[in-house]
Amino acid sequence: MVDNVMAMAATSSMRERSDEVVLRLQNLTKQYGKRLAVDNLSLNIHRGDVFGFLGPNGAGKTTTIRMVFGLITPTAGSVEILGKDVLHHRAEVLPRVGALIETPALYLYMSGLNNLKAVAATLGGVPAKRYDAILELVGLKGREKDRVRTYSLGMKQRLGLAIALLQDPEVLILDEPANGLDPAGIVEMRDLMHRLASEGKTVLISSHLLTEVQQICSRVAIINFGKLITETTIEDLTRGHGEYEVQVERAQEALQLILQQPWGRSAHLSQNGAIITPTPQGRGRDLNLFLGQAGFVVDTLAPATHDLEQVFLQLTSSQAGDVK
Ligand SMILES: Nc1ncnc2c1ncn2[C@@H]1O[C@H](COP(=O)(O)OP(=O)(O)OP(=O)(O)O)[C@@H](O)[C@H]1O
Ligand SMILES: [Mg+2]
Repeated sequence: MVDNVMAMAATSSMRERSDEVVLRLQNLTKQYGKRLAVDNLSLNIHRGDVFGFLGPNGAGKTTTIRMVFGLITPTAGSVEILGKDVLHHRAEVLPRVGALIETPALYLYMSGLNNLKAVAATLGGVPAKRYDAILELVGLKGREKDRVRTYSLGMKQRLGLAIALLQDPEVLILDEPANGLDPAGIVEMRDLMHRLASEGKTVLISSHLLTEVQQICSRVAIINFGKLITETTIEDLTRGHGEYEVQVERAQEALQLILQQPWGRSAHLSQNGAIITPTPQGRGRDLNLFLGQAGFVVDTLAPATHDLEQVFLQLTSSQAGDVK
């Protein structure tokens, strides 16, 4: 079962990106007084994307998402969902979009299931068997009769997600959905997102935590001060820097040797004593070979994961202090 989910996740991240643009932001701008909360933001999100919308606190993520739903009016620019302008076709478009914006509004004195039913009633009802399927999907089966007051933060997030899924939407827009989830919860959330994407749904997830987005999303846009800094795949973001982290015996000695190579001049030691270094031709196996031939036994060799965090901090450095 776990293997199936993993295989599915792998397939969905590897398959070709659909040409169909499901969510189009064009020159989207929101000004509050003198402050530009969102500044001329343009983005295309395609069908089946699990798209990360990443930026430090105050970057403009929630403001953007509120505009996407037509909850606030842009100062300039437009949002199209499924080919329709949101402001002009709200009633038509919004039932096809599920949303979780910041902390979900829940009735704490009611059970999880009754929360779902209450929202379903305002939507004109959903088939009874849908509740079970959704509860199963978000991992709340068995706890649906407990009062929400007794739920953990992560469970409340899942219930919020269940509400977003009630109408079986084509597009899901989730503002900080991994808030309060533990690492296992984040992995489950990732598998769930990939499962939804493989069904042809499109998911936009905002977060101020790169590690979260890295685990859940295939593509990412990074914003800061309301402006788009970069839009790319997680793979490219890592590959662009292409450093590797190597655990090796006699690390100092190996480092000195690497530093003498034309490709290795920026190599350095990490805090835990591993060598962080570019590789010959950007490939890990060449580095492995190089060290082996020089008589160093490599314990582990992997793309430097902290590297991504570094990229994020550099890209958003003026607010780096805000990044948790
Ligand atoms: N209603 C409002 N009136 C005035 N300023 C606002 C309003 N809403 C948001 N802002 C400002 O717009 C900027 C972007 O805020 P936003 O909530 O969109 O950021 P965010 O990226 O969602 O941050 P976080 O990670 O903390 O949720 C901030 O400087 C914020 O103070
Ligand atoms: Mg926010």
